[in-house]
Amino acid sequence: MKTLVILISGRGSNMQALLEAKLPVDRIVVISSNPNAEGLITATELGIQTASIDHRAFSDRETFDAALADEIDSYQPVLIVLAGFMRILTDDFVLRYQGRLMNIHPSLLPAFTGLRTHQRALQEGVKIHGCTVHFVTPKLDHGPIVIQAAVPIFPNDTDKTLAERVLQQEHRIYPQAVRWFLQGQLKLSARTVVVNDARVHDWVIYSPGLQE
Ligand code: GRF
Repeated sequence: MKTLVILISGRGSNMQALLEAKLPVDRIVVISSNPNAEGLITATELGIQTASIDHRAFSDRETFDAALADEIDSYQPVLIVLAGFMRILTDDFVLRYQGRLMNIHPSLLPAFTGLRTHQRALQEGVKIHGCTVHFVTPKLDHGPIVIQAAVPIFPNDTDKTLAERVLQQEHRIYPQAVRWFLQGQLKLSARTVVVNDARVHDWVIYSPGLQE
């Protein structure tokens, strides 16, 4: 059975975009690090199997990650995707799933790794911002990049308006990246990803036509 595992911690809008994308898998399982995550309700409403592993019940990262890995392994997934999963993972966990662990980050990596990306992009006065899907490696927000989407920053933008504009693109690129993986189109090397049988325009997306 071809299984996709989605890890969430909160709202779960990227998870929802993945669930609605009709991806070529037999089963999707959503696991949350937060038992009160809004995304768990959405997943259940969509008839998706869920589990939660409350990170607060564990004394350290290692024991939490070990419990999470046990839960994940019970489904034998082909791919694990982080979709707003707000825990930093141990190197052991990341290495265990290397090459089949993906993340979406709300910036054009390698710019603005870490948190508060929209606020920092506005503070820096950059004119183009966006989002990135990448494979996860032990160095936070630095793994090989699969696809990016860029959006303009307008003079009257706030964190909120910018986050909304970027999020629309996140919902577009994450299902695309996962579909490529599942179809065997991604060739991963240490630093880079080649997307086979696709056009450049499919993995470099710029959306300038958005309204101010
Ligand atoms: C998204 O902006 C994602 O890029 C980041 O966390 C946010 C999660 O949003 N990693 P959601 O839970 O998918 O709605």
